[in-house]
Amino acid sequence: MHAPISTLTTQTEATTDMFQAATINSTNKVDFYAELCQQLKGLLHGESDTIANAANTSALMFEMMPDLNWAGFYFLKSDSELVLGPFQGKAACVRIAVGRGVCGTAVEKGASILVEDVHAFPGHIACDAASRSELVVPLHHDGKVLGVIDLDSPTASRFDAEDQAGVEALARIFVEASY
Ligand code: SME
Repeated sequence: MHAPISTLTTQTEATTDMFQAATINSTNKVDFYAELCQQLKGLLHGESDTIANAANTSALMFEMMPDLNWAGFYFLKSDSELVLGPFQGKAACVRIAVGRGVCGTAVEKGASILVEDVHAFPGHIACDAASRSELVVPLHHDGKVLGVIDLDSPTASRFDAEDQAGVEALARIFVEASY
């Protein structure tokens, strides 16, 4: 087990605690996500700012999850449109209509979508030509969908049901801390 993770403090404070993502040595995904969830809880502990938490959640996922080329958030700014939030990776499309692309479809369905081959997903929106597979997980709060976490990989079939369950757990931690 890793030592408890202290939270980041502002640069202006006299004592600045650095958050250091700890290497995860787990060989199976269930254990990997259990540990990543603990790290995310530590990273977000005591902070409720949505943008800051989305930024740090993106950074942790991008650093810790192997074989990603994009990790980030889209938030619903109206009933009909998602808008790009904090992310790691190449610059991405800003607005996605509900019902469009993988992200908009996940919002419409209110359920996660695993895409093994993005070229086979009708209406997939390509933000990075390198992306081959994708996992989109909605953010649920009080019976509403607030947005999505979107993960892209340059490897086909990078994500499976265990990744989906793991990222759904990360999404719950993010929502609990931020709303
Ligand atoms: N591929 C997504 C668009 C967002 S980018 O992957 C960052 C989609 O089809 O909704």
